[in-house]
Parts: sequence; C-alpha cells; structure tokens
Amino acid sequence: MRVVVVGQGYVGLPLAIRAAEVGHEVIGYDVDAGRVKSLAAGVSFVEDVSSERIAAAMENGTYRASDAARDCGGFDIAVVTVPTPLTDGVPDLRYIEESARTLARYLRPGATVILESTTYPGTTQELFAPLLEDGSGLTAGADFNLGYSPERIDPGNPVWGFKETPKVVSGVDAASLKAVQAFYAELVDTTVPVGSPKEAELAKLLENTFRHVNIALVNEIAMFARHLDIDVWQAIDAASSKPFGFMKFTPGPGVGGHCLPIDPSYLSWRVQRELGQNFRFVELANDINGHMPDYVTRRVMDAFNKQRRSVNGSRVLLLGLAYKKNTGDARESPSLRVSQLLLDMGAEVRAADPHVVETAAVDSRLVRVELTQQELAAADVVVLLTDHDAFDYDLVMAHASLVLDCRRRLSGPTIEVL
Ligand SMILES: NC(=O)c1ccc[n+]([C@@H]2O[C@H](COP(=O)([O-])OP(=O)(O)OC[C@H]3O[C@@H](n4cnc5c(N)ncnc54)[C@H](O)[C@@H]3O)[C@@H](O)[C@H]2O)c1
Repeated sequence: MRVVVVGQGYVGLPLAIRAAEVGHEVIGYDVDAGRVKSLAAGVSFVEDVSSERIAAAMENGTYRASDAARDCGGFDIAVVTVPTPLTDGVPDLRYIEESARTLARYLRPGATVILESTTYPGTTQELFAPLLEDGSGLTAGADFNLGYSPERIDPGNPVWGFKETPKVVSGVDAASLKAVQAFYAELVDTTVPVGSPKEAELAKLLENTFRHVNIALVNEIAMFARHLDIDVWQAIDAASSKPFGFMKFTPGPGVGGHCLPIDPSYLSWRVQRELGQNFRFVELANDINGHMPDYVTRRVMDAFNKQRRSVNGSRVLLLGLAYKKNTGDARESPSLRVSQLLLDMGAEVRAADPHVVETAAVDSRLVRVELTQQELAAADVVVLLTDHDAFDYDLVMAHASLVLDCRRRLSGPTIEVL
C-alpha cells in the first residue's frame, strides 16, 4: 500500500521505517525542509532508528522523505504524527489542523486516515474528522476510514521497541477499526482494539498521567524523607519487593520530554472546559514535578552553605541535559531549568551530555563541555541530572570533590543523593 506518514519526528520516523520494512511504499512527509534534507541523506536523529535502516529502506525504494505536499497524493493509508504542544497553557492543535487540511486535498474514497498525535479525547471525531470531510467532500466512516492509535514509543528502551509494544487501535466505525487494526497488525506483535477513538485518546492520557502522578508522589516523599532523615531510595527498593500492587517510580530532578509535562494538561484542560471541574491530580503533579528543579538548586545551595560558600561565583558541572537517560531529547528537560536557575544565581555552569546535539533550547550562557578529569576536578559541585550509561562514573567518583546525584547512580563520601 502507499502509506504517508505526516511528521518525521520521534514518532513518525520509526513508524515510517517500520512500515517500509514490511513492504509498504512509504512517504515520510514533513514541513521541516532541513529535517527532510538530512533524512534524504540517510541521516537519522532518532536513537531507535539507525541511519543504516533508513539507507536500506531508501535503497530498495520503500521509503522517501519529502517536504512537498503533493507527494501525499494517492495514499491508501495516512498516519499523522505531528506535535501537540501547549501554548500559553492551552492545547495547541494547529499542527493537527494543518495536517488534516493537507491530507483532505488528497483523500480518496476507501483510503484510511489515522491520527497518532497525543491529544484530548474527542479530537479525532470533533476536530480532525470535520476538517478532513470539509476539505475532501467525503464522509468519515461512509467514504473513508478514520481512526486513532496512540503511540507508546519509549526512546532508548532496549526491550520494548516499536514492534514489541502492544498498540491500542480504534476507528469511528467497524470498517474503520478493521482497516486501522489490519494496518498495525503487520507492524506490531499485538494490537488492542477499543470501542471508539475517545477511549483510545483517553487511554494514552491515562498512561501518561499515571506516570506523571506517581513520579510526583515519589518526588514529594523524597523531599519529606530527607527532612525526616530517612533514606527514601532504600524505602523505595524495599517497597518494590512487593510482587503485586506496587510499581516502582524513582525521584529525579523533574519531568521533561514531549509527554509528561504536557499531555496530562490536555486532559485537565478538556475536563475544565467541558465539565467546569479541576483535575486535581494533574494540578498537584504539575506543581510538584515543576518545582523539582528549584529543589535541586536548593540542594546545591545547601551543599555550598555547609562549606560557607555561595552559588554565586562557583563552578558547577551538570551531567546530562536530556530529560531521559540514553536519549538526546532535551525538550522541556528539567536540566535546562536547573542550569537557568544556577546561571541566574551567578554560577559558572558547564554541562556535559554526549547525546544532546541540538542546542537551540539550551541557555546561551551554558558552556558545553566533555566529561573529563579536568572538568571534574575544576568543578565546585557536579550535579548528575541524567544518568546516561555513556558517562564514566568511576571517573566522576574519583575526581569530583562534591556530587549531587539526582539519580542514585553513585555512592561514596563525596556523593549526596537527592
Ligand atoms: N516523542 C515521544 O516519545 C512521544 C511518545 C508518544 C507520543 N508522542 C506524541 O506524538 C506526537 C509527535 O511527537 P514527536 O515527538 O514525534 O514530535 P517531533 O517534534 O519529534 O516531530 C513532529 C514532526 O512533525 C512535523 N510537522 C509539524 N507540522 C507538520 C505538518 N503540518 N505537516 C507535516 N509535518 C509537520 C515537524 O516538522 C516535526 O518534524 C505528539 O503528539 C507527541 O505528544 C510522542
């Protein structure tokens, strides 16, 4: 089949390459000409998709990246994987809307359109469908298939890749569900059908809100436990020995990425708008997780205070700018906020992260460095924010005079744990 994947980012690229590998003729359409150019040169920026896989798919003619909308023409299946950010705290669906308008121009009877972007329940049927229908003159369900299937991609996860992770699928009617399920059944081991797009949309937000809330829970406990002189990490390990009814979450410097800081607010916005009610769990989790960078900064201040020193004028080495270990994604990363707070307080802040290449979002005052013995020795404090496996932790323990370890990766007399 001719498959168009709209958006060639962290979600769209793995999907497009997988679809090409099972034999579809895939167009990876993206409005970002720079991204398309590098993909056309066979260069991947997503950890889970090697440049070799892109090159192989291009070579056998099953994959092509394009920034020309006309290349969307003639599709049998189109999947939309464009960003869904918050703008001024409100869901910003302009990219989904643009994608719908583009696809509507090329929509033919019998084709299938699937939305994958994370969004509030109701988007597929109330916003996406009317735009497709208006632009094409066709009716969802009657003339073309329409569905929603949330993405669960976990960048850097060595066990649960695209193929192994079950995929929730839905359609606006029985025929749409059948078409959506048939498409994904070729790509992944397990598909999980639900009654309508709304359940699939909510399932995704439930998953992310669950994570957000539980991370907030352990973060709050970590802050209390320190004042109660309790080792929270030991307590978490002990609780994790329970084989049922408990799931392990660990404290950290906050949440980042495209999902946790944003997706739960899509749900709370919808609840507030439709029902006039606050989604209190989300508000609380946003509050706690959003303030973790302040807490990390506070811990740096406390550590300096014990030495009768100030943050102002001190040299701080941050380890990890990505929001998550072993990935290069620094979007919404709490590391960026920590660095900003320390810079504002007058610290000289340096940061090492072998994975993060895009520096657009990084404060221009921040100095990017390699993790070396000299950098470690020259730092007044080292703050481990993202515990990439690529860091040489023996080197850190051997040469840093003081470390604030936000991930409990290290131990020793010079290590303070969050
Ligand atoms: N990154 C993740 O781990 C992850 C996981 C699950 C779900 N999601 C969701 O998937 C969606 C996409 O996320 P992402 O991380 O892949 O984003 P991304 O920013 O990496 O990629 C999105 C791409 O879409 C392109 N784009 C924007 N508007 C377009 C348009 N009108 N036509 C064609 N291309 C367009 C952008 O140029 C960009 O390259 C979001 O809703 C996100 O919440 C992300």
